[in-house]
Amino acid sequence: MLGAETTARANVNVALVKYWGKRDPALNLPATGSISLTLEGLGVEATCVFGVESDRCTIDGDAAVGPDADRVLRFVDLVRSEARIEARARVVTTSSVPKGVGLASSAAAFASLAVAVSRAAGLRLEAPALSALARRGSGSAARSIYGGFVEWHRGERADGRDSIAEPLLAPGDWDVRMVVAVTSTARKAVSSSDGMRRAATSPLYPAWVETAERDLAEARRAIAARDLDAVGQVAEHSALKMHAIGLAARPPLLYWRGATVDCVHRVWALREEGVRGYVTIDAGPQVKVLCAPSDAERIAGALRGVPGVERVLTCLPGRGAETRECP
Ligand code: DP6
Repeated sequence: MLGAETTARANVNVALVKYWGKRDPALNLPATGSISLTLEGLGVEATCVFGVESDRCTIDGDAAVGPDADRVLRFVDLVRSEARIEARARVVTTSSVPKGVGLASSAAAFASLAVAVSRAAGLRLEAPALSALARRGSGSAARSIYGGFVEWHRGERADGRDSIAEPLLAPGDWDVRMVVAVTSTARKAVSSSDGMRRAATSPLYPAWVETAERDLAEARRAIAARDLDAVGQVAEHSALKMHAIGLAARPPLLYWRGATVDCVHRVWALREEGVRGYVTIDAGPQVKVLCAPSDAERIAGALRGVPGVERVLTCLPGRGAETRECP
């Protein structure tokens, strides 16, 4: 029913096989599939109500203006056209993820918005349709509709209806940890969308697209077998390959800082000592380490000791997007 205030919550996800390049930027259709792990406790709560005087958006307690507000309101427009309504909306989002630090808060934001805004508009979408809708706000948000290990399909259709995510393993199906070393809380200089545009200039980009299916098959198999070393190896490979594209792009793109490199070497040194941790890095300088629960404390402690590391979080596999309707 239109007019009911709806609140939803979604968690961030970290890709193990990365999404890095679009086959259709307007619809956020990816050039390749990707596989991720949703993380508990790093999330965004979104509340939406239609039938107010004018469109208004509040992000983390402040009235939103500029590109952030535009992006949310464009998303609200999209839902309005799908629901065939004209009513104005009030949208409030609150994040427990530091903004712009490469922890993909946009994934949690648009997954929670997909649920809250569509329900407030009177739509009753199932998870696959919510995934397709969330994708329109930010590609990686398609995966945050689900918990645990998730695959987002490239899809073949020009309208993108088959470019949706699906769960591979529920959060309780495999107990792993993701240790996150934050090396900078400054807002990132080059957004993911811009980074992907630049990636397309790299001579390494065609090889990235060509080898994606192999990485996805390897990750799928390893996740089904709950084989941490196999998942870790393909995740590390996918991340380093993604960043190699940027080094060869014009102009070049390097998200890493000194502490990023030092964290990678620290994890590799721990591996020599038998600690099973594997790094992945997104469009920012943070280092995330996939590991067994029994190794998480040792890895977190080691990364805390790396100069330049501001803080270290340890995350569990997280739940998918959830809704709560106010009476
Ligand atoms: C490096 O989903 O933020 O985190 O679709 O342009 O909003 P847009 O990009 P976004 O890109 C995420 C890129 C990544 C890898 C990944 O999450 O797969």
